[in-house]
Formats: sequence, structure tokens, C-alpha cells
Amino acid sequence: MKSKSSDFIPLGAPTFGKDDINEVIDSLQSGWVGTGPKVGQFERDFGKYVGTQSALATNSCTAALHLSLMSLELKPGDEVITTPMTFCATINTIIHSGGKPILADCNKDDFCINPESISEKITKNTRAILPVHFAGHSCNMEDIMQLANDHSLNVIEDCAHAIETTFDDNHAGTFGDFGCFSFYATKNLVTGEGGMLIAKDREKLNQIKKIALHGMSLDAWDRFSEGGFKHYDIVAPGFKYNMTDIQAALGIHQLARIEENWLKRQRIWRLYSESFSELPIDLPTNVVVPKSKHAHHLYTILIRDDAPVNRDEFILKMQENNIGTGVHYRSIPGFSFYQDSFGWNPDDYPNSTSIGNRTVSIPLSPGLSENDLNRIIEKVNSILK
Ligand SMILES: Cc1ncc(COP(=O)(O)O)c(C=O)c1O
Repeated sequence: MKSKSSDFIPLGAPTFGKDDINEVIDSLQSGWVGTGPKVGQFERDFGKYVGTQSALATNSCTAALHLSLMSLELKPGDEVITTPMTFCATINTIIHSGGKPILADCNKDDFCINPESISEKITKNTRAILPVHFAGHSCNMEDIMQLANDHSLNVIEDCAHAIETTFDDNHAGTFGDFGCFSFYATKNLVTGEGGMLIAKDREKLNQIKKIALHGMSLDAWDRFSEGGFKHYDIVAPGFKYNMTDIQAALGIHQLARIEENWLKRQRIWRLYSESFSELPIDLPTNVVVPKSKHAHHLYTILIRDDAPVNRDEFILKMQENNIGTGVHYRSIPGFSFYQDSFGWNPDDYPNSTSIGNRTVSIPLSPGLSENDLNRIIEKVNSILK
């Protein structure tokens, strides 16, 4: 296998401009690099973008998921229904919050959780539904919210892929009680590591804000700025989940370019779909849901059985040609810890298992050059034809 050379095309590459860099320098020169005014500005800007006044910046989406699940105060035996087609953080945070994860299979076409499967899994112990807007395609929030209302369940939306996503003209994350976003290095908005938690209930978010910083009643900015020094109280045993001003410095300007970058990815998405239409693969869903927007976060193809290579061979061949790929995701019931802990059997989740064995994501960054795109298209075609 070749090592990564200078012409390596990574799966996800952030694009940083002069504005981002200058804002980070401003943060460094100000001497305030922890949680401060830039975090406040990023929270307000992000809230405005998605249509909420209640946004809390965190150091990851995992932290946002954990905080929102902790706020449900789950009791032993309480169940949270989620999808097997997700990243492990979705499941792990349910476990860390004292809940029992229950899986409902996903759809074959858009990889999002299937509302009928959710309905079959609801029991007297169900407390919440945790849908994941896969690759930026919105889950069917109409049906999911109907189920939640009918059964008095909380809803936490995993929006790690879904910053730009809308459904019925509303932003992903604003349907449920909470929406959790990721700004990890490969995401549509990158702060290195980072996340955002939005909430329907502003008062609840104010409580969570304390839990996100050790359970302290005041953060450092509040304690030391204007009006002199104040002592803090500890109101709960909290976590260390706050975002820093250096991260927010990047977020503010990345957010300002979010639509511009989305248009670039949309173009790449369409180009790929035209260029790969004759190959023995299933392309990502191209169903356009009315009044909704796909965030175009991941371009995932499914390698069919009649292809000349299987998924893992495809990944190796792409790597040999200096092109990065990703697997989003191997299906959750295939992992040993979950099998041992919950007795999950991959065969009980046929759609997720089939996707997990065949899926591979190819680069979809706004910074890809025409030359990069030609190389990717040419290699995918030559490997799969
Ligand atoms: C669906 C999903 N949920 C949660 C996460 C966790 O995000 P973070 O890395 O910001 O904690 C990810 C990250 O890749 C993800 O893809």
C-alpha cells in the first residue's frame, strides 16, 4: 500500500480562509483563548442560521448528545430508540446516560431510521427517539414527531451530518427537544473538534450549560469580566464539554460560508451521480423531498454483488491511487461490545446490515479541484467497470 503522498485526496478536507485565520489570531492576541465572547457570537450566529435562540457550543457532538440525554434523567430500564446505521457515539451516549439503546432498522434508500420500525419497538419503557439525519438527508420528522406525541416521548435529533438540512422548511434539530451538531474535521463546518446543542426549552438549555462546565454556576468569562470578581457555586457534578474561543473563531467564518460550500458540494454530488450512473453500484438517494434540503455531507455508494470488486477491495484500490474513502458506517449490531452487551443480531436489522457491508463514501469537500474530481471519477470508473 502506498503511503499518503502530497497528491493524496482525503475523504474530507476543511477549507480555511483568511477570515478564519485572522479571527484565530485575534483570539490569540486578545489573550482570551478559553470560552468567551467568540463562543457567544458563534452560538448566536448558529442559532440564527437554524432558527433558534437556544444554542450552546460544545467541544463535540458526542458531548451535545450526552448532555441532552443526561437531561432526560433516564432510570434503569428506560429505553431510547435509535438507528443501527450510525456512528458509535450515538449509541454510547445513550449507555453513558443510563439508558438502554433499542435499535429500529433504517430505510434501504436514504439510510435514515424507518418510522414503522420505530413504532414496532415502542414499549412502556420507551422514553425517547434519537433519529440520525444520515449524510444530511432528513429523517421523516413528520412521522417521528407524530409517534413521539402519541406516546409522550422526547426526541433528540443527531444532526452531526445535518447543519444545512431542512424538512418541511424547518431546520433539522428544531423538531425535537434537542438537536446535536458536529464540527469535527470532516464535517460541513469545521472547528477542529466541536459541536452545538440546540434546545426547544431555553430554561433547560441554561441548566445544561452549567452541566457542560463542571456544574459551575458561572463560567470564567462571567467570573472575571466587568463588575469585578464573583465566586462560583457547584450545582451538580458536571462535565468539561465547553467550546473554546479558538474553535469558535473558526466556526464564525465557516458558518458565514456554509451556503457557498453547500453549493460547491451540490455540484460535485450531481457530477458524481451523472458520472457513475452506469456502474454496478447503488447511488445515494436522489429523491427530492418537497420543502426539504439535503446537506450533501457524504456521498455514499453501495457496491453491488455484481461489481468486479467488493467494498473492502474498492477501498484498497482507491488508497493505492492516493484517494481517501470512508465507511459510514458498519452496522452497529456487528460490533462485539454491543453483541455481548445487548445480544444484538445483525440479521435482525437486514437493511442496516446490508448497507454496512457494502457502503463506502468518496471525497465530497468544497475544496476539491477540477483535477481532483477528474482523478476521482476516472478511478472510480476504472475500478468498478
Ligand atoms: C452520526 C454521528 N453522530 C455523532 C457523531 C459524533 O460527532 P463528534 O465527533 O463531533 O463527537 C458523529 C461523528 O462522526 C456522527 O457521524
